[in-house]
Order: sequence, then structure tokens, then C-alpha cells
Amino acid sequence: MLVAVAGTKDSPGVTTVAFGLACLWRARGPVLLVEADPDGGVLAARLGIPQEPGLATLAAAGRHEVSASLLASHAQAGAVAAALIVAPSAPSHARAALRAVADGLSRSIAGLVGTTVVIDLGRLDAESPSLPLAGVAGQILFLTRPTLEGADALAVRLAELEGVTDLRSKARIVTVGEGPYSGQELAQVLTVTHMGHLPIAGGAEALWSATDGAHIPRRPLLRALESLANRFERSELSEQSETPQPLRMGAPNRADPASDLGVRASHRRRHRAAPSPTGL
Ligand SMILES: Nc1ncnc2c1ncn2[C@@H]1O[C@H](COP(=O)(O)OP(=O)(O)O)[C@@H](O)[C@H]1O
Ligand SMILES: [Mg+2]
Repeated sequence: MLVAVAGTKDSPGVTTVAFGLACLWRARGPVLLVEADPDGGVLAARLGIPQEPGLATLAAAGRHEVSASLLASHAQAGAVAAALIVAPSAPSHARAALRAVADGLSRSIAGLVGTTVVIDLGRLDAESPSLPLAGVAGQILFLTRPTLEGADALAVRLAELEGVTDLRSKARIVTVGEGPYSGQELAQVLTVTHMGHLPIAGGAEALWSATDGAHIPRRPLLRALESLANRFERSELSEQSETPQPLRMGAPNRADPASDLGVRASHRRRHRAAPSPTGL
């Protein structure tokens, strides 16, 4: 499962949602959270962990090819035991790292098998150096306020992205806070599925100090994140059941991008033989 979370200029909480989903899904298996925010990272400071290893060291080490083992060696074990690739906090450094490694990193995460990947894209627009990462996500959750300003900001962003790639078809709406419109109304106007609603409420801080995803206090924001996580999982399952499975008559299984790449598969084997402390 590969999900990205993105915002526009008027949407709060992208990192909170990406981190919250990673914490909640950690209970089911390995999770990798990639902080790919061109405006600079906040996770290291919030979690009290160093900025390196992370996106900057990964960019320096693997500009073209990011093997699974290289990826694991630049991930840190996060507070809730999800593996984290944190971005440098300086926007110029974050952008430079993303420009260098987003292509290789996106191929690498698309080839991970059995790991849930959550990508924090920050504010996504058609010039973002994170576009390659958005391109490999199965679905992109766009946070928006259910206001005219929020709807307009998202409509403009989606129109821009339509011109660049097929990202629009992966876009889903998550409404945040109160406003005159319901999620369903926005969904109709923008022709994008509404995946859930988050209140503006206390409780986000509990995430940053959590040591165990299963025991984060279920205050309103966390309960809403849990509903969103469940809804998302159901939508992934229904998409999988609707997607025709590839024939296995000697042809490589395209559902597993690593299966026809001997090099990457051998990386995976090596990696499995020596699991990293990040649990990837
Ligand atoms: N739904 C919410 N309700 C209340 N506070 C929130 C909510 N989402 C995020 N926050 C708080 O707002 C601040 C910014 O959130 P963050 O997720 O970093 O936003 P972004 O990534 O969009 O810049 C953080 O202090 C976070 O705890
Ligand atoms: Mg953020």
C-alpha cells in the first residue's frame, strides 16, 4: 500500500495526517514514512531525532539507483517504530535532496513488497520536486478546508496537476475543520472522492510523543484519523478486487515490480536476511 498526503496553501495538518496514518498502520506490519516536503521537514525536530540519516544523506548516496538496502540504511526507527526518512528542515536543502533523489526513491518504494509506504508531499503543485513520489502513490489524500477558499485552492491545484501527469485520478479529498460545505458537496463539485473528515481539535501533540501506535489516546482527532485509515484500507481492498490479476504464464508479474528485476530482487533477499533496526 502506497499512499501520499498533500496540501494546498490553505490546508493544515499534512504532516500530522501522514504521521498519524503511519502510526496507526504500524500495528499491521512494516511502515515507511517518507517526509518529502519541499518546504523543509519538521519530523526530526518534532520527534527529537537527528536530521541525518535521512533524505539528504540518501540523496548524496543514491542519486540514480536507490536499492532497498540503501533505503533502509538512510531510514531511522521512529518513535512509534515506523521507519522514517526525514527531510532536512532547510527548504533549500530539502528541495535539493528531492530534486536529486525523488526519481530513484520513487522507483525504490514502488518496488517494496509488504511495506506500507506513507509519503508526506507537503504542499503539492505542478513544480514540486516531489512529483515523482506522487506519481507512484496509489492514492493521494489532499487536505482541504470545506470553505470556498479551500475548494478554490484545491480546484486550481488539481487543474494544474492534470496538465502534468495523471495525478488527478489518484486525488482524494480529506476535509479539515468546519466550513459551509460538506465533504460530499466538495466531492461533487471537484469530482474527487471524499475520504474523510478531520476536526480541528486537540490531540495531535499526543502523536509526537507516542511510543506505541496502538496506545495513542483516542481523542477526537485520533479517532477521526483512525476512521480515515480504515476507510482508506477498505478502498484499497476494493480497488484490488476490481483490478484484473495478471496472468502468470511465464510472464513477469507486473503487480510486483521487483519480480522481473533480478538486481532489485537480490537486494530484497539480502535485506530480508539481515533486517534493519527500522523494521523495513
Ligand atoms: N486537525 C488538527 N487539529 C488541531 N491541530 C492540528 C491539526 N492538524 C495539525 N495540527 C497541529 O497544527 C500544527 C501544524 O500541523 P502539520 O501537520 O505540521 O501541518 P502541515 O504539515 O500541513 O504544515 C501542528 O502543531 C499540529 O499538531
Ligand atoms: Mg508538514
